[in-house]
Amino acid sequence: TAQGSPPQFDLPKRAPPYQKILKNFAEVRRVLGVDRKLTLAEKILYSHLANVEDSLLSNTQNGQNIRGNASLKLKPDRVAMQDASAQMALLQFMSCGLPTTAVPASIHCDHMIVGEKGADKDVPESIKGNKEVYDFLESAAQKYGIEFWPPGAGIIHQAVLENYAAPGLMMLGTDSHTPNAGGLGAIAIGVGGADAVDALVDAPWELKAPKILGVRLEGELSGWASPKDIILSLVGQLTVRGGTGFIIEYYGPGVQTLSCTGMATACNMGAEVGATTSLFPFTPHHIPYLKSTGRSSIAKAAKTIVESKAVDNILQADQGAAYDQEITINLSKLEPHINGPFTPDFSVPLSKFKEQVQANNWPETFGAGLIGSCTNSSYEDMTRSESLVKQAKAAGLKPKADFFVTPGSEQIRATLARDDTLNTFSEAGATVLANACGPCIGQWKRTDGIKKGETNAILSSYNRNFPGRNDGNPKTMNFLASPELVTAMSYSGSMTFNPMTDSIPTSSGEPFRFSPPAGKELPAQGFESGNTAYLPTPPIPDSSVQVKIDPESDRLALLEPFDAFPQSELSNLRVLYKVKGQCTTDTISAAGPWLKYKGHLPNISENTLIGAVNAATGEVNTAYDMDNASMAIPELASKWKAAGQPWLVVAEHNYGEGSAREHAALQPRYLGGRIILAKSFARIHETNLKKQGVVPLTFANEADYDKIDARDEVTTEGLYETLTSGGKGDVTIKVKKHGSGEEFSVKTKHTFSPDQASFILAGSALNLLAKKHAQ
Ligand code: F3S
Repeated sequence: TAQGSPPQFDLPKRAPPYQKILKNFAEVRRVLGVDRKLTLAEKILYSHLANVEDSLLSNTQNGQNIRGNASLKLKPDRVAMQDASAQMALLQFMSCGLPTTAVPASIHCDHMIVGEKGADKDVPESIKGNKEVYDFLESAAQKYGIEFWPPGAGIIHQAVLENYAAPGLMMLGTDSHTPNAGGLGAIAIGVGGADAVDALVDAPWELKAPKILGVRLEGELSGWASPKDIILSLVGQLTVRGGTGFIIEYYGPGVQTLSCTGMATACNMGAEVGATTSLFPFTPHHIPYLKSTGRSSIAKAAKTIVESKAVDNILQADQGAAYDQEITINLSKLEPHINGPFTPDFSVPLSKFKEQVQANNWPETFGAGLIGSCTNSSYEDMTRSESLVKQAKAAGLKPKADFFVTPGSEQIRATLARDDTLNTFSEAGATVLANACGPCIGQWKRTDGIKKGETNAILSSYNRNFPGRNDGNPKTMNFLASPELVTAMSYSGSMTFNPMTDSIPTSSGEPFRFSPPAGKELPAQGFESGNTAYLPTPPIPDSSVQVKIDPESDRLALLEPFDAFPQSELSNLRVLYKVKGQCTTDTISAAGPWLKYKGHLPNISENTLIGAVNAATGEVNTAYDMDNASMAIPELASKWKAAGQPWLVVAEHNYGEGSAREHAALQPRYLGGRIILAKSFARIHETNLKKQGVVPLTFANEADYDKIDARDEVTTEGLYETLTSGGKGDVTIKVKKHGSGEEFSVKTKHTFSPDQASFILAGSALNLLAKKHAQ
């Protein structure tokens, strides 16, 4: 711990507020005692608490069992938003009436660019197709002082790594792979728009203190094994749910051997196990990365924090800190892995992949190899892949599969162009796509004749491979691997080809075998900044700017505030729908083509619950009105809304599992939903409901689920009193059966905190904020 007076840091605007973080951390030490050994994740998280003592002692035995119990009220340092999710986040922010964001923020236009013919043609096309959304985002950014990265500038996570991420930073991002920034020692958490708004308006963002999973790395990578293989093998061990409620913290001697961008790749894909985030400690590899991306002063400050006796080391774990769970990976023995299809946790070591292809009847060939994306487009990734392309070229070979390269940012693209790497790819026949998500998020116009519904395989260096994610074809099997492996295998086009052991015939008759890839961690001449048109707008708020929303638009609509809770019980509600089985956020608010309407609540609400199974009939998206007329769920909800008939939904376990998508809470609320009565909730969705003013209740006795049906009439008892007394009290539901008129009561449980009770009373969290701001 610290001795002496702390040094002062002279830092640029985008740097973490180290002085403040260190001061808060001193308070953490005071509350927990100087001898308490803390993991790195705990150090960074706890030093971002709004009120250290309150949070660390909440729900714990005097601060002893914080992880898994305490409710942390956090004040992140910054927010990043991608263009699809930024729309609703900004619309919500705007409804609070603040002149500027409380913390620095950035918007990145990356998700809406279709990859087809290459960057030069695809970017202008996308600007044409999405102009009104880009205009809205840019004008809002100018008004509120948010840095706006225009379409073509790069993918959010790459731009964040190059510009904002830094050791000790805590940030929120409205995208699942925000943890990418953990490669540079930051705590970066993927959230929904409503959570981002908390940070933007300076309201504390709540998180149940995560448990910490320690991943000890030993040895050193060599040959074909790459940082991607660390996470591909870890996802296989943990499965897609294994990281839920955990932060993955890497430690051990192997950590010191990895490049900064390699660590980012491992953190990026930690999202695939459901982890809250992943992170690495500050290592010597961070220094050259920070320097080469123009941030020498941050490198110097981080070094001072780690080495100085005068300040506490918040950038590395305490020696001997304990983890809730531990896994060891020996990098020296790590084999390349290939994961998939359809789920990222089906992880197969390369040496066993051929067997698996045959045993599972997977296609023998694959049509496309795609490298790059937010996960794997670093200088190291690309130059290692380039080395393979050069070897193949010398042997007179061309890729057999279509080959696509997605640079993660303009900075990396321009640098690779200068160093001839992109030219090497292009000469080999690769298509260099825009600096954007493209095929990774379904924005891919395939031109190889594969029809929808046709089984086929592709290989990518991306992070997700759910059905339909890349080309909209649910039968496309996407296998995930390192960019090096994707590149080498593209030359054979065969799924059973192992570049470590197999050779490819050449026209000279000489069989060709790849040597292991070799690349450079960072460009010897530094990074190029590239096209200056892609630089962000400066973060200076300008209140004179009018935010651009066309009143006729079908993609954007200003949010109307929701009505406040009545000063009484909720009465005469009707059960709109009784859901059977799983009900994820996708079931409640489907993605795919609906993503287009993310900024238009009335339009996107037309997908509300369309995936839900009717408990009485087994039908999907089929609801029945009081006169037995059947119709789609959103249709009935709209009809009841228009008639002033408030409603509730009855559901089973884990209602709202999946993503943090706030639309799944906003839409039912918009259509007149007041209560969700379920056997249990997914935690994040339950919070989202309260933020939007919907009351989540659970059955005290699960068997009561069977007693209540669609169209029954419901009145609450004790709800108003519970809300007005800060969440203390019991809530009973009085049910009157449709048809028989029989009446009975159902006991329920709730989890309202005093803050959440006020959100509901105000009509929504934003209403409350707007009210406070107006006072
Ligand atoms: Fe974009 Fe795919 Fe990453 S959608 S943010 S490139 S995971």
